[in-house]
Amino acid sequence: MKRTTLNQIIDLLAAVFFLGMIATGYILYFPLPPGTNKSHLLWSLTRHRWGEIHAWLSLGVLAILFLHLALHWSWIVVAVSQRLGLTRDPQAKHLKSGIITTLVLLGILGAFAWITQVSVKEQTTPCCPPKQRRKAPISTTPSRHPSSTATPQPRARLTPPTQRVPAAPPIEYWKDVYPRLASACLRCHGPNKTRGGFRLDRREDYFGSNENAALVLPRNSAQSPLLSIVKGERPSMAAAEAHKLPPRDIDLLRAWIDAGALWSQHAAPKKQDAP
Ligand code: HEC
Repeated sequence: MKRTTLNQIIDLLAAVFFLGMIATGYILYFPLPPGTNKSHLLWSLTRHRWGEIHAWLSLGVLAILFLHLALHWSWIVVAVSQRLGLTRDPQAKHLKSGIITTLVLLGILGAFAWITQVSVKEQTTPCCPPKQRRKAPISTTPSRHPSSTATPQPRARLTPPTQRVPAAPPIEYWKDVYPRLASACLRCHGPNKTRGGFRLDRREDYFGSNENAALVLPRNSAQSPLLSIVKGERPSMAAAEAHKLPPRDIDLLRAWIDAGALWSQHAAPKKQDAP
């Protein structure tokens, strides 16, 4: 093969790899930014896969660069030789210059490898503040779906696919549900006044005991009596109007139940803020 053809092929390969590297770098920065690996796909590849492609392309660029250096090796050696003043004669043997050039290149690569290796540090602060992740799924079910009171919504509705948050911590009774119910229900269902034998702070009142049937069936909001009460589907019960909740709170209750109705007793407030 002629030398110029070879050079052209190498230049073409270099251009392809280099453009590929830029394109995948763009993908990793804009369409699939950090944190989207578990939740998003581009052309059915995850961010992690694109990162691997990016890395292989850059290795390709490196390989072509070395090939390029190798093909120009004798020119490089002569140039270095003349610069160092080792010889004025272009025909002279350039062994010494060749060794020096190789050593310098290897030294630079070795130094780079060493510096990157020793510079890796563990992160002292975690990357993603957990606060944002917790609030996001709850607040994404606003009252702009008034119809949602009539039909049970699947859990998936609470985490739309556009959300760039990997996974929200589960909804927990004392942390998430109780504060919303307290303002609407506590005045009739607290320790001071307990209408209908139901108290907001008693676990057995929700999940049933020997005397009482369960109001909440974990992972089954459709069959849970509590949900039909707050949706106003029991007009015959006393103070029926006082039992209706806004759609936003109904969605939260439903999500809590369908996620397993998590109830951590240690999270209960020490003193009930009963009126
Ligand atoms: C104005 C007072 C009042 C408010 C506010 C109120 N309730 Fe009631 N609740 C009652 C009364 C009275 C009963 C008894 C109804 C009956 O037995 O017919 C009752 C009964 C219940 C029962 C028992 C139903 C059964 O079949 O066992 C539950 C559960 C309940 N309420 C939940 C709630 C929830 C949740 C809220 C807040 C959204 C709430 N209540 C707000 C007065 C109230």
